Amino acid sequence: MLNKTVIVTGASSGIGGAIARRLARGGANVIVFARRAERLAALCAEIDPQGARSLAVAGDVTVAADRERLVRATLEKFGRIDGLVNNAGYGQRGPIERIPLEALRANFETNVFSLVALTQLVAPVMRAQARLGRDGCGKDGGRIVNIGSVAGKITRPMSAAYDSTKFALEGITDGLRGELKPFGIDVTLVRPGFIRTEFGQVADVASERVLSPEGAGPYAPYVGDFQAKRAKLRRVAGVPDDIARLVGKAFTARRPRAYYNGPMHAKFFLFLKWLLPARVMDWALRMKKNAGRRV
Ligand SMILES: NC(=O)c1ccc[n+]([C@@H]2O[C@H](COP(=O)([O-])OP(=O)(O)OC[C@H]3O[C@@H](n4cnc5c(N)ncnc54)[C@H](OP(=O)(O)O)[C@@H]3O)[C@@H](O)[C@H]2O)c1
Repeated sequence: MLNKTVIVTGASSGIGGAIARRLARGGANVIVFARRAERLAALCAEIDPQGARSLAVAGDVTVAADRERLVRATLEKFGRIDGLVNNAGYGQRGPIERIPLEALRANFETNVFSLVALTQLVAPVMRAQARLGRDGCGKDGGRIVNIGSVAGKITRPMSAAYDSTKFALEGITDGLRGELKPFGIDVTLVRPGFIRTEFGQVADVASERVLSPEGAGPYAPYVGDFQAKRAKLRRVAGVPDDIARLVGKAFTARRPRAYYNGPMHAKFFLFLKWLLPARVMDWALRMKKNAGRRV
């Protein structure tokens, strides 16, 4: 990782923070981006007390001027971009029938469109950095790691809004991987399972209205079951560094894999999805009336 310069979005918390720490430990210059400036400043002070190998850029990934400022500031300080970790994201919950379309659009804006827009700014920089290989293709231009989710393969009732943003990311990442390969840019998708971060609290705030008795309407008797299943899954949840380790591999492997899945329960759920008929998966994930309790 030495001498690599990597942008990490959504680094003020959870998985993004762990990725920034791990990359910095590996010797990379790390540019951390998110809206909460004070968190980013604290992170930089922790990973790079001298301030020579990190940069905090506070901004909103959905705002074009903030994305442009991020890329500009990175190039001004480090002169190149070897890696981009598209990690910023949040979860919108609620039954599809009841979700206000603007809430669904907002989730796609952060998790999908902003990720594409930032990638559109960074890919030309990486392409220009690539050297020409003997086969006439670019080499070593840079690496892009998108943080997807097991939810990009398995949709649960009441979680389909968020899950569908991660499904979209599966398609976008697969397309990008083929499109950017000739220019020497590798693209990888990391699919976390359940990880203990602020993700749940942020999703609760975003989904409060649509999961309330009035918001959920006829789905209200099923909300308790949905929340109880979430609470159960928290027991098997991994830690952010489980995912940071996979991102580290994507940057250090000679040939990075297309997908990294983790921790173990994520691999297990993906295996079940591959193995089982849809009817069995539907049964396993079915909503139960007046089951569980609201948490
Ligand atoms: N935790 C899990 O179980 C899990 C599972 C699968 C996938 N993931 C994915 O992992 C990624 C990180 O999630 P996490 O679990 O670490 O959640 P988290 O602790 O809530 O962190 C989310 C990060 O994204 C940033 N962010 C959100 N909206 C943003 C915006 N508009 N502009 C800039 N930054 C923004 C937040 O920073 P600010 O609020 O400071 O802007 C924060 O740093 C997400 O893409 C999530 O979908 C998480």
